[in-house]
Amino acid sequence: MFVAVFIVLWLAVISAGFAIYGVRPRGPGVKWSWWVAPAFVFAALGLGVGMPTLALLYSHGPRFRTSQDGLVLDKQQLQGRTIFASVCKKCHTLGDAEATATIGPNLDLLKPSTSLVVDAVEHGRARGNGQMPEMLVDHAGAEAVAAYLQRVAGHPPQ
Ligand code: HEC
Repeated sequence: MFVAVFIVLWLAVISAGFAIYGVRPRGPGVKWSWWVAPAFVFAALGLGVGMPTLALLYSHGPRFRTSQDGLVLDKQQLQGRTIFASVCKKCHTLGDAEATATIGPNLDLLKPSTSLVVDAVEHGRARGNGQMPEMLVDHAGAEAVAAYLQRVAGHPPQ
């Protein structure tokens, strides 16, 4: 689907190019070729409809619902991904989130269990290896992040 829309788009761009440069009538009384008008319409449709369609497909399509490693994420895990990016990314390393911070432990290596994540988020951590504030997100948020980590930790993008 993605490839098909992409090809149509390119055809549209190319035909627009032809329409503008290739078949300009030369000399007085010479008419535009019959297909110039359809090519223009096609180009306009391609850009006006194709582009937004592509953008929509790209942002909400299958690519968006999988981890970088191609694992399908459910709704809760997707929510966890969003929370991770906004809250946890600044202190932890996690390949799937392109997080490289080293204030807290590397979660790809730690591969924390669901209960450990929920506990760490709700109670915070201060065991001598730095500080993690408590209650960074609410309980549902903690469970969502835990579900996300359960799915992707240890599966960095290839
Ligand atoms: C301000 C920086 C910071 C933020 C933000 C942060 N963490 Fe941490 N995290 C740490 C530090 C530092 C440690 C290690 C604490 C220690 O050793 O006592 C840690 C430890 C952990 C651990 C391991 C706990 C254990 O007992 O081994 C997990 C799991 C964890 N964090 C998950 C998360 C999640 C999920 C989020 C987002 C909701 C998050 N962290 C946000 C700094 C942070």
